[in-house]
Amino acid sequence: MAQCEVRAIPPFLLSGEAAGVQQDAEGLLDSVELARAKALPPAAGIAFLAGRLAQRRLAAELLSLPAADLTVAYSCPQCGTGPGVGHGRPGYSYRGAPVPLALSLSRAAGWTLLVAVVDASPGTRLGADIEDPSRTGFDGFDGLALTPAERRNLRNVRVELLPAARARLWARKEAWLKMTGDGLRTAPSTVDVSGRPGLRDLGPAETGLPAHLAAAVALSGPVQASGSGGSGSS
Ligand SMILES: CC(C)(COP(=O)(O)OP(=O)(O)OC[C@H]1O[C@@H](n2cnc3c(N)ncnc32)[C@H](O)[C@@H]1OP(=O)(O)O)[C@@H](O)C(=O)NCCC(=O)NCCS
Repeated sequence: MAQCEVRAIPPFLLSGEAAGVQQDAEGLLDSVELARAKALPPAAGIAFLAGRLAQRRLAAELLSLPAADLTVAYSCPQCGTGPGVGHGRPGYSYRGAPVPLALSLSRAAGWTLLVAVVDASPGTRLGADIEDPSRTGFDGFDGLALTPAERRNLRNVRVELLPAARARLWARKEAWLKMTGDGLRTAPSTVDVSGRPGLRDLGPAETGLPAHLAAAVALSGPVQASGSGGSGSS
């Protein structure tokens, strides 16, 4: 049964660390990743680099390979895959061959969640997502995001618990849509996320995330709970 490694990286708070992140990124990341960061506003660029560094270090640790020897091999449903593609489904290659690791990353409220499945058989698909309940309170969220059945179920939820319930549904939807690879190209209001095989919520004890953030993981095969949790900021 596939085993998930789960890591939460706390918010990048100290502005003094930005220079260190940039320096590490220039030493370890691929040019396509550095170019993506450069196109973002400075704070978002540093958060992007910090997440990519943590993801690469986790992949290297799990594979017992030097982080600098991994090459990004992302897959985008539109642009395809290869060393020039730095967006879409995460992946790496080593000496030209794809590594046997399924990966997923999500950022919210300054936190980054990383989930990995080691020795993933070819075709194993993984998706993980975190969501901040404060981001789900806008008018129209239910119509945009939820199926009619999910909207009906929310009518039974106490008003003060609605943000958490919405965030839980949204995290499940994005985890599922990252697992399929479609992302939001598929309308989330068409994806019912109760009782889907391989999709489950991740609790704070398993992730190390603050309890108010919702988190979920979807795996295209049986999944066993085994988060190392905590804030391994690699
Ligand atoms: C996947 C998606 C739902 C995540 O959005 P989000 O909630 O804003 O962001 P999160 O922080 O939770 O996740 C971002 C991560 O999702 C992953 N991701 C992006 N697209 C993905 C896909 N198609 N399949 C699986 N994972 C994907 C990446 O690891 C990304 O991290 P990065 O910023 O380091 O590249 C959204 O990016 C999406 O719908 N993308 C697909 C749209 C598309 O195909 N566009 C074509 C581009 S050419």
